[in-house]
Amino acid sequence: TADDPNAGVMAEINASIDVDQRLYAHDIAGSRAHCSMLIAQGIVSADAGHAILKGLDKIELEIVAGTFAFDAALEDIHMNIEARLFELIGEDAGRLHTARSRNDQVSTDFRLWVRDSLDALDTELAALQAALIDQAEAHAATVMPGFTHLQAAQPVSFGHHVLAYVEMLDRDRGRGRDCRARLNAACPLGSGALAGTSFAIDRERTAADLGFDGPSRNSLDAVSDRDFALEFLAFAALCATHLSRLGEEIVVWSSQPFGFVALSDAFTTGSSMLPQKRNPDAAELVRAKAGRIFGSLTALLTVMKGLPLAYAKDTQEDKAPVFDAADTLDLCLRAMTGMVAGMAVDTDAMRRAAAAGHATATDLADWLVRVLDVPFRAAHQATARVVAVAEEKGCDLGALSLADLQTVEPRITAEVFSVLGIEESVKSRTSFGGTAPERVRAAAAEARKRCR
Ligand code: ARG
Repeated sequence: TADDPNAGVMAEINASIDVDQRLYAHDIAGSRAHCSMLIAQGIVSADAGHAILKGLDKIELEIVAGTFAFDAALEDIHMNIEARLFELIGEDAGRLHTARSRNDQVSTDFRLWVRDSLDALDTELAALQAALIDQAEAHAATVMPGFTHLQAAQPVSFGHHVLAYVEMLDRDRGRGRDCRARLNAACPLGSGALAGTSFAIDRERTAADLGFDGPSRNSLDAVSDRDFALEFLAFAALCATHLSRLGEEIVVWSSQPFGFVALSDAFTTGSSMLPQKRNPDAAELVRAKAGRIFGSLTALLTVMKGLPLAYAKDTQEDKAPVFDAADTLDLCLRAMTGMVAGMAVDTDAMRRAAAAGHATATDLADWLVRVLDVPFRAAHQATARVVAVAEEKGCDLGALSLADLQTVEPRITAEVFSVLGIEESVKSRTSFGGTAPERVRAAAAEARKRCR
């Protein structure tokens, strides 16, 4: 009864309308396709069917206008829409649910929602790639230290560095496309509650109407499968991982000891106490929000594990993590695109850092191999001794005199200086996929064409 306190608790735990009202457009799309098919198959009369379709149009307008009254007592989006349809057209509203269950309905709606979300995120990913490619073109010949272990290793082109993220995002887009293709292969509509239906429905028609490749092959699987949502979350988690790595790099680059980049004012905050501060909050938040997306993936994996066939109410818990991950990833992508596009690069600071730390040691070793035919291992040892000489003198490798170099290897000639400069070093890395500015320019042009 209404004053039984348990009824309130039950309604509260059972209702999903606060979350799943976001499915309204996809729910209505699914209902339109189902209704048109019922009319075409003679399962519902044209009169009743058209009244239903008109009612659905009106409901959609009401929801878009914000005048639709969602009611938690009606549990979920499906029942809220159906109840309103009864108000609008009377008893014929009840014919829409012929040969359908909320189980195949929600499974269809949610796939449609995830499909749209993947398309929107793909557009965001392309925009971030474009911003990165802009920076790569502008800085193909900007020299910075390349790191391993966050220790200066070899000088690289800044353009080359940002193009590495274009590649990561490209794989993310590929995963998004894979997820989309798999979820779009099978339309669950017409699977009923779990067993199919005795009505002569046309599943090919509804599947095609909703843009799926075809109907799902097994009704039990179709109503209970949430692989597509898990794949979406895995895609989002991996993409968030890449964004968090870039976020971390931006935090490091914009720190005073590095000073490689300055973020635009739009993406920094001041400190209430320290007037000189420009904190990279947005980059830090992108770095952190990956954790939240991983949480969503873990949450849904945990919901789905061990669930027996077919539908169970557990799966109602699928939407909140997916919506949250989609929103979070969308925001992170937009913030990252803004940060990358507005980032001012201090080429002098990068160059200074690249020139420190004996960054051309490998070039010296390679020279010894190429010109003096020293075996690489021996060249490596000789170079280590040259670095020790430079350290003793308190200067960088490139600043040593020929006499200094010859104390280690008397056969070294002045020709060696042509490889000890950082620009020369970067220019020499012309192998495919390497960091030479000409390579980076070509790679940026190729990426521009590929990443649309
Ligand atoms: N709101 C439900 C969900 O998201 C719809 C399906 C309800 N099905 C049922 N048999 N109670 O899962």
